[in-house]
Amino acid sequence: MPSELTLGESLAARGVSRRAFLKFCASIASAMALPPSVAPAMAEAMAKAKRPSVIYLSFQECTGCLESLTRAHQASLETLIFDLVSLEYQHTIMAPSGEAAERSLHQAIEENRGKYVLIVDGAIPLGDPGYGTVAGQSFADIMTETAKGAAAILAVGTCASFGGLPKADPNPTGAVPVSHIVKDKPIVNIPGCPPIAVVMTSVVAHFLTFGKLPDLDHLNRPKAFFGDTIHDRCYRRPFYDQGKFAKTFDDAGARQGWCLYELGCKGPVTYNACATVKWNGGVSFPIESGHGCIGCSEPDFWDRGSFYQPLPMSLWTNRGKTLAAAAAAGAAIGAGAAIASRMRQRKLVEEK
Ligand code: SF4
Ligand code: SF4
Ligand code: F3S
Repeated sequence: MPSELTLGESLAARGVSRRAFLKFCASIASAMALPPSVAPAMAEAMAKAKRPSVIYLSFQECTGCLESLTRAHQASLETLIFDLVSLEYQHTIMAPSGEAAERSLHQAIEENRGKYVLIVDGAIPLGDPGYGTVAGQSFADIMTETAKGAAAILAVGTCASFGGLPKADPNPTGAVPVSHIVKDKPIVNIPGCPPIAVVMTSVVAHFLTFGKLPDLDHLNRPKAFFGDTIHDRCYRRPFYDQGKFAKTFDDAGARQGWCLYELGCKGPVTYNACATVKWNGGVSFPIESGHGCIGCSEPDFWDRGSFYQPLPMSLWTNRGKTLAAAAAAGAAIGAGAAIASRMRQRKLVEEK
């Protein structure tokens, strides 16, 4: 049932101080590239807001997205805020089961029609209704029925956003993303395998503060988090620009933190916030841990060649081709090529 408490009252009841809440709002505003002056107004608007009703559906998925959202390294204000949405239905973590669970879903739809936020993880199989059913109803029908009453839909994870692993060639179940089925509702795609929890929290915070969704790009991703590539923000970028590339995962270059491009890093063609927001409370991200980015937030990343080969140019875009040329030039002629590389990179971003 939706809570009658405002978010501010709920936080106060949990002992969260106004100072801590303001700090949280400042970090959200900063992450979303909003001016710092927005933070107090954001805190005020969020504190007065009723907790939004959220229905969370899981389809063809591995539960990694939900793990990312709920398994905080330690209790953080972000997870506390997410706890304080009114979660009406999530079949993995809810207490009711069987018919009681299905009654909960239908009751939540009726009581919050037109107002609830629908979060979806996983792809939807269209090949045969039997590939995915709950209580005898196909995933596709559940998706369609639940979307009708939603105010907005968050497709979290690469599976829900773009089809992800279930849609990988040869796509045996006919898996499709949420946007293939729902055409008449605002959809925010938050890709990543899994996605970063604070990105999901920020989208909910934006919705609570401004009563609307944040600015989205051409793939319906929040621009604030998906406006730059991993490569644009990578701390190894100076080595790329100098043409210094690790050749194996344990050579001298790798030990000095050189660029992982030649070991297959897909950072130059991957849009996500990992290099700035990072994971596990800002501790690290794949490249900082010594492994190249595998492009997990991009459409069809499973089908774009080996994770360990340099960008397979024919399978990525011309963008990748130009970047490879820039990398080769950087390796060959050093600093001069570094400048050219930067200019090409900037031009490619502008062209995208
Ligand atoms: Fe699992 Fe990745 Fe799909 Fe999320 S996006 S359900 S983590 S396979
Ligand atoms: Fe970082 Fe990868 Fe770009 Fe190298 S290629 S700078 S490791 S994102
Ligand atoms: Fe995925 Fe690349 Fe980030 S692999 S987790 S988008 S660094």
